[in-house]
Amino acid sequence: MQVAKTIAEIRAWVRRTRAAGKTVGFVPTMGALHVGHVSLVQAAAAQCDCVVVSIFVNPTQFGPGEDFEKYPRPLEKDLALCEQNGVDAVFAPSSSEMYPRENLTWVTVQKVSEPLCGRFRPGHFRGVATVCAKLFNIVGADRAFFGQKDAQQVAVIQRMVADLNMPLEIVVCPTVREPDGLAVSSRNQYLSPQERREATVICRSLQRSAELIRTGEKDAARITDQMREVLGQVSAFQVEYVSIVDAASLEDLPRVQGRVLIAVAGRLGSTRLIDNIVVDAATK
Ligand code: PAJ
Repeated sequence: MQVAKTIAEIRAWVRRTRAAGKTVGFVPTMGALHVGHVSLVQAAAAQCDCVVVSIFVNPTQFGPGEDFEKYPRPLEKDLALCEQNGVDAVFAPSSSEMYPRENLTWVTVQKVSEPLCGRFRPGHFRGVATVCAKLFNIVGADRAFFGQKDAQQVAVIQRMVADLNMPLEIVVCPTVREPDGLAVSSRNQYLSPQERREATVICRSLQRSAELIRTGEKDAARITDQMREVLGQVSAFQVEYVSIVDAASLEDLPRVQGRVLIAVAGRLGSTRLIDNIVVDAATK
């Protein structure tokens, strides 16, 4: 497995790979890799000849007071996990390699970045879109793989790629969950044992919404009320939002119709957790 720390090294590696007629799948990550990331690597390996993983804790997507400094960075463990899972190359640049000078050029995806997490993390999606645009330009992959776990990130990246005619395909992979339903996340390790048990309330609220829709409920406010009731069972969980929106535009939907994203975010102690499901109401 090739480990590239510089842009020149990864570019040279990808150039050689493509010259040999191979397709390249790309999995951007911030490291602290877990089974969710591994599922993206497996999807990339199934659909492409070679897999590149990037590991970079991107400072421009963290707001003041967020967990940039304490975000876990177990690089050696991450490299071993990549190696075990057949990754062909890892791009693990320093901050100065990615941002060698004051960054003056930003990618802002209007509207799609604004609701949901955008309201609580100002500037976050500008940082995500900008670093993904940079990574896409650096790596030059055929396909990039993203998790449905971060639904708004997916919507922002898909819109950026469409609006800017970026020459790669975005592949979205399902959310990997713990046996009790909690969405796997690098941030779950911040939870105390009690918080870890309580955290399942989030996916239980999403299951409630799916049940209601299955039994014919179409009124978004009635569904979100029921979800808030479930979330209220854990008094320590501070809801940021419970939203029912169009899965592509992220616009609020008063009634459930088409491809609908049901998304929850909140805090358990100092840990911010998000989860979502997508329901195709047209087929229900
Ligand atoms: P990170 O949080 O490390 O996530 C990397 C990728 O793994 C994202 O596409 C995310 O949606 C996916 N992922 C995380 N948990 C998952 C789970 N339980 N099931 C399936 N996929 C999961 O997202 C980022 O990094 C950054 O914002 C990044 C895109 C790398 C830009 O800095």
